[in-house]
Amino acid sequence: MKVLNVVGARPNFMKVAPIVEAMKRRDTEFAPLVVHTGQHYDAQMSDAFFRDLGLPEPDVYLNVGSGSHAVQTAAVMQSFEPVVIEEKPDWVLVVGDVNSTLACALVCAKLNIKVAHVEAGLRSRDRTMPEEINRLLTDQLSDLLLTPSIDADENLRAEGIPGERIRFVGNVMIDSLFSQLERAEKSTVREDLGLAGKDYAALTLHRPSNVDNASTFSRILDALEQIGNRLPIIFPVHPRTRARLKEFGFADSIEQTKNLRLIEPLGYLDFLRLYSGARLVLTDSGGIQEETTALGIPCLTLRENTERPITVEMGTNTIVGTNTERITQAAFATLDTPMDKGSARIPPLWDGHTADRILDALLEGMREGEGMRDEG
Ligand code: UD1
Repeated sequence: MKVLNVVGARPNFMKVAPIVEAMKRRDTEFAPLVVHTGQHYDAQMSDAFFRDLGLPEPDVYLNVGSGSHAVQTAAVMQSFEPVVIEEKPDWVLVVGDVNSTLACALVCAKLNIKVAHVEAGLRSRDRTMPEEINRLLTDQLSDLLLTPSIDADENLRAEGIPGERIRFVGNVMIDSLFSQLERAEKSTVREDLGLAGKDYAALTLHRPSNVDNASTFSRILDALEQIGNRLPIIFPVHPRTRARLKEFGFADSIEQTKNLRLIEPLGYLDFLRLYSGARLVLTDSGGIQEETTALGIPCLTLRENTERPITVEMGTNTIVGTNTERITQAAFATLDTPMDKGSARIPPLWDGHTADRILDALLEGMREGEGMRDEG
């Protein structure tokens, strides 16, 4: 079965790597190709992840780059369509909720090519987030909806999607996490930053709702200044965030904030090594909410909502919004509570074997499709 596996942006790589690896292992059943749209293109946002995760070089690189939502989505569609026509895949597999995900799903839907969506069914119910629009539409267009948690199945059914299109397979990002933990121990990032044996916090921030709005961004920085009085905060800075810091004139004051250390974005293994040793993680990312839950690291999410409620219900995640006082108080409360990684509760099927369940679902979906055609 020929499968085109689409990656575009940083959070896609760790979801596709275990799937491609499993397809290569099961090479009598699968012939995988990797298509990189080029939505993310910097070495630190893309190449580092291919290297760290052992992803093979992309078979096809579309080189779309940055742009407004319409420009970027259209550019992916225009360059992806001829690839699908040429390759005639049995399945196209898209992951997550970035612009490349929706663009490729839409191309396939129009060409009547089967699309499987990994990480289907997550909903923040906040349509000001571009990712929420991408999730809603990708799920409507996909033939097979592979969900990471049961809440996602419920969301899809509530939107009228028939149960036979939905498969609960678990969280494939956790396959990458568990399989790379040992390799990440070789990273010297903690030593390089002088953190070995010390308490520190790790921070990531890149949501447009946080960093494209000067007053929200400034409220968060005020909280970081106070938290910095208790422990060092390590902040690998996303290119979007770096640009806004400069544009809003925050760069100088942030450089002077005690204990807040800005560094370049890290690769997968270095970042895993960094957050897995943190006393506290502050983030507006989706994936990091899940990774901290899997490892039992306290996580404060600097957003008003999450599309990953299981990380709050079962895991270590707390939604704290962007109010200075609320963030600071939650951080201090966390630091005042002894850490107990052993009590981490890992959600069902976040077990490191999701990729194989995805492959089984693709095979089954293909057989069902053939059956339907025979009957027709
Ligand atoms: C995208 C995803 C978001 C994901 C994030 C992870 C969408 C709608 N958003 O947001 O869901 O959480 O990736 O990083 O798809 N840039 C570079 N180098 C790069 C890539 C981007 O400098 O390799 C800069 C460009 O100035 C670009 C900006 O970052 O305009 C934003 O990039 P873009 O891909 O549009 O969105 P992200 O904010 O990265």
